[in-house]
This record gives sequence, structure tokens and C-alpha cells, in this order.
Amino acid sequence: MSADTRPDTQPQPEAQPRPDAQPRPEPQLRPDGTLRHLLTLESLPRDLIERLLDRAESLVRPAGAPPPTSTELEGVTVANLFTEPSTRTRVSFELAAKRLGAQVVNLEVQLSSRVKGESMLDTIYTLEALYVDVFVIRDAEAGVPGLVAESVHPHVSVLSAGEAHLAHPTQGLLDALTVRQRKPHFGSLAIAMVGDVRHSRVARSAYHVFRALGAGEIRIVAPPAYMPEAAEFGGCTRHTTLAKGLKDADVVMMLRIQKERMSQASLPDADRYFAKYGLTPERLALAKPDAIVMHPQPMNRGIEIASDVADGPQSVIRDQVRNGVAVRMAVLSAVCAGRGSRAAVDRPGGGLTRS
Ligand code: CP
Repeated sequence: MSADTRPDTQPQPEAQPRPDAQPRPEPQLRPDGTLRHLLTLESLPRDLIERLLDRAESLVRPAGAPPPTSTELEGVTVANLFTEPSTRTRVSFELAAKRLGAQVVNLEVQLSSRVKGESMLDTIYTLEALYVDVFVIRDAEAGVPGLVAESVHPHVSVLSAGEAHLAHPTQGLLDALTVRQRKPHFGSLAIAMVGDVRHSRVARSAYHVFRALGAGEIRIVAPPAYMPEAAEFGGCTRHTTLAKGLKDADVVMMLRIQKERMSQASLPDADRYFAKYGLTPERLALAKPDAIVMHPQPMNRGIEIASDVADGPQSVIRDQVRNGVAVRMAVLSAVCAGRGSRAAVDRPGGGLTRS
């Protein structure tokens, strides 16, 4: 390793299981190994991740082509419960569900009874009584998707659409799909995640999926204030300058400054941040000539990334958005697999048989 690319800190060792430890069952899977909930990519088996990516890839269409549709989720009801703002995730979950034939309800939390003090679980139980089968949940509070997953009926699935700073699993999958489309050999890749890693659920889910897929090197490039705790991101190299962090990178993943997760005093000065950590064409030239540029969006142009990079030839940011619908279709299809059509009431002799 040349002095140029030497990390500022060595990779943290990873915690090893005790030799006598029994493998714990993965709580997101059913006993038969199929996916029931998707709350985190941490500990999800690699073959399952690859199957989800393969299915998603089969559902991607070029811009302008009609999107794929099916009746696979006919009779299934999906509820989107977002207590934090979203454009991409909420819309793409809705489109994904509708394109598979599901019914979709979008709960406007500001207009729901939660503002009158109804607890999240009472809201969930109410929607379960209205035959919701899949809950898609975004919440600023850690633990909410997991609590709901523990509390719902066995036929109900919970999909995290973003949990605090901890997890954004469908974003991680769409990021992995976007990388795989351009650079399928993860083992030879140097991936740089740049910016506010400390507060980023996107970075955590990307880390888990890139590790699972065997990424050669994952670098964290952040100002000291936005570095994650030492115990996190085991195996990553850490850099505090773009000069070192971007050198010969294959993938440059820029991250949004998570203003909503920091105090006013921790907010950076926009001009100073851009001067040190903004991705400009000159800085991108430090990476490999065919490096791709990613950003989960929403992006702060002129703070995290220059517009001529965001809209330039190396940017795959719009591919990420397009892949988001395909990934969410693949995940919905996986958690609903084996249900068959739920439209029993429309069939001769059919009826609602749920308890
Ligand atoms: N990337 C992402 O989660 O975007 P939204 O907040 O618009 O859903």
C-alpha cells in the first residue's frame, strides 16, 4: 500500500462468534427459509440476497419502456406507513405493489389518529383488522419495524423503508444491484462511502450488502465528526480526506448530510463542507477513470456533490432510482410467495377464511 492510500486508521477487527456458539435462526426468515420480513441486510444469507438481486434484474426495463406488470399479488393489501418524509422509497413501494396487482393504502400519518395519541401498535392492529398483509414502515425511531414485526399475525410481513440511522435494506439492495450492473466482480472492487457516514442508514445497509457480496475493499471517507463509532463498520478502512479515500476507487457513493439527525451546533458550514468533502470533477479524477458515482438522494447539490458530477457521464444516480422499483417488486414478491391469489372472495364458493 503506498503512503498515498494508507488509511488514517487500520480496519477494525470483527467480533468472532464463540467456537461453541449455536447458529441462531434468522428472525426475518420463515422456518422453511423463505423471506418473511425485511428489516435489515445484516445477517441475511448471501444466496438469498443474490436471488433477490436476480429477480430484481429481471424486472428492470430501460427508460421509456413499459414497466412489467403481473397479478402475482392480487388479493394482497400493502400499507405504506411513513412517519418521516420520502419521495423515492414511498413512491417506488407503491408502484411496485400496484404493478404486481396488490391493493395499496398510504397512511398519511399527519392526518391519522396517531396525532391524537394512538400508539403505533394500535394503528397496526387496526390496519390488520382491515386485512393489511404487508406493512412498509419508515420511522425515525430505532426499533419500530422490529417491534411491529414481533407483534403482527404470522401471515403478515413487515418491510423497513428506513429505520432511524440504522437500516434501509431496500436501498442497500438497489445500491448493490446498481453496482452489479456496471461492475459485477465485487471481489475486485474498492468502494468509497463518502460523507456523513455516522448518521446514515444508507451507509449501514450498503456496508452489510457489499460485505455479503464479498466487496474487495470498503472505505469510509468522512470528516472526524461524521465518522461512525470504532465498533461499527468492521473491516472498512477509514479516511478523513478525499485525496486518500477516493484514490483508485471503483465506486464512489456520496451520502447526504443527515441534518435531521444532528443538533444545530453539529451542522456543517455548507461552503466549508463543499470545499473539503464535496465531489467535484477534479476530485472524481482521483478515482479510476471508469468509476461510477452514486447518491441515494435527496442530494444537496453544491454541498455534497457538484451538479456537473451528479448529472455527468459517470453518475448512476438515476439508475439507482429506476432499480428501486424493481428491487421493491422483488422483495414484495418474495415475502408474498406461496400465498397464491388472495382474491378468494371473487371465486365461486370462495370466501374470506382468515381468522
Ligand atoms: N433514498 C431515499 O430513501 O430517498 P427518499 O427519502 O426520498 O425515500
